[in-house]
Amino acid sequence: MPQLQFPEGFLWGTATASYQIEGAATEDGRGPSIWDTFAATPGKTWRGQSGRVACDHYHRVDEDIALMRSMGVDTYRFSIAWPRIQPDGSGPANPAGLDFYDRLVDKLTAAGIKPMPTLYHWDLPQTLEDHGGWPVRETAERFGEYAAIVGARLADRVDTWWTLNEPWCSAYLGYGNGHHAPGRTEPGAALAAVHHLLLGHGLATKALRAAGAEQVSIVLNPAQCRGDEEAVRYADAVSNRVFFDPLFKGVYPAEVIERTAHHTDWSFVQDGDLETINQPIDLLGLNYYNPTWVKNAPGAPESAVAPGSGGIANWTPEGLERTDMDWPIDASGLTDLLVRVHKDYGVATMITENGAAYATGPDANGEVEDTERVAYLRAHIAAVHDAIEEGADVRGYTAWSLMDNFEWAFGYDKRFGLVYVDYTTQERIPKASAKFYTEVIAANGLDRA
Ligand code: BGC
Repeated sequence: MPQLQFPEGFLWGTATASYQIEGAATEDGRGPSIWDTFAATPGKTWRGQSGRVACDHYHRVDEDIALMRSMGVDTYRFSIAWPRIQPDGSGPANPAGLDFYDRLVDKLTAAGIKPMPTLYHWDLPQTLEDHGGWPVRETAERFGEYAAIVGARLADRVDTWWTLNEPWCSAYLGYGNGHHAPGRTEPGAALAAVHHLLLGHGLATKALRAAGAEQVSIVLNPAQCRGDEEAVRYADAVSNRVFFDPLFKGVYPAEVIERTAHHTDWSFVQDGDLETINQPIDLLGLNYYNPTWVKNAPGAPESAVAPGSGGIANWTPEGLERTDMDWPIDASGLTDLLVRVHKDYGVATMITENGAAYATGPDANGEVEDTERVAYLRAHIAAVHDAIEEGADVRGYTAWSLMDNFEWAFGYDKRFGLVYVDYTTQERIPKASAKFYTEVIAANGLDRA
């Protein structure tokens, strides 16, 4: 018996996203997304890299499912590329796009792996951005229609759905600091994007439920904030409660509306929107990588990813180990996050992403000994167990990521995979962390060290 035993039925999985792994960017009628455009813009991604080929997963589905099968995963969280389904973001479905995911779902099911699709992991059809993107209401409406199309095709075989992945990133990195596609730097537009992403979630939830979906939810990446109380309160409001409160209570936090009045009057929130957003959430998806530290810093300028945050500064304590992303490692933040969400919202949760970037490649024997990643995973999976012991209702864990892939603005420079990808040959080599994870799954638990 491992020291830390997980509840029976706990789901173990791996996660990926369409643009990060699929490649085949112009095949079978796929239209361009904002990430194709962004990556083609000089200076936006590392060495100008893009997801044009990525892991060529589009042509290697069988091999990739076999990899997951050999690890023994229960579930696979992948995303559906909206521009494969509707190349321009509206109108009738592109049959070849739907067929691809239809086959994927059937193959996963045949392999005994529960498919859990995400409808939107950041690849907005470029045409919709040309019409204004997430800051405009039409995008939310189009998203609801897209959800209906996908639901009609797959909801007979898929019971658990995620609408959006990390709307914080889509809004604040896409329209706030411009580090992500579409690369705009307009705080008022970022706040409008927050609202229209949430509205899109609400519309998509209705559409999926109408199509017969059983569990529909959203994936958030809350910042587990630490530091000065006052700074933490606002950082939590603008980063987390701006999503939690409308989803669970049907309101936006008053302090965010007040402190962002110089950017927007929030008139994009129309009658009925909050009711559309505030629907039952069956299972909340949480992505966690590291905590966030903030402090009171009189005179500090407002952060582009936290509108209204003037007077608050980010910092990281000395002495913590860091991953290749330069992200500090502190697994206790994951326990704190799960316990907080349980106490404040009483909702069942699943860790939909957690993992670490390390460059480790094959050694002379062709083995990838990524011991740091094993240590990271061990500590964080133990942290999930700690949260369960404290009463949090956590239903599963999907590791980020199945394999090395296109890490957005960092291109192929950062490797998060349990499986190593040689991008010249597309060879896949399971790392030591894949073997470790296989053992965790087999035992439904692990030892703390
Ligand atoms: C995203 C992934 C990304 C990972 C590591 C998450 O924010 O959902 O797509 O690769 O973090 O940066």
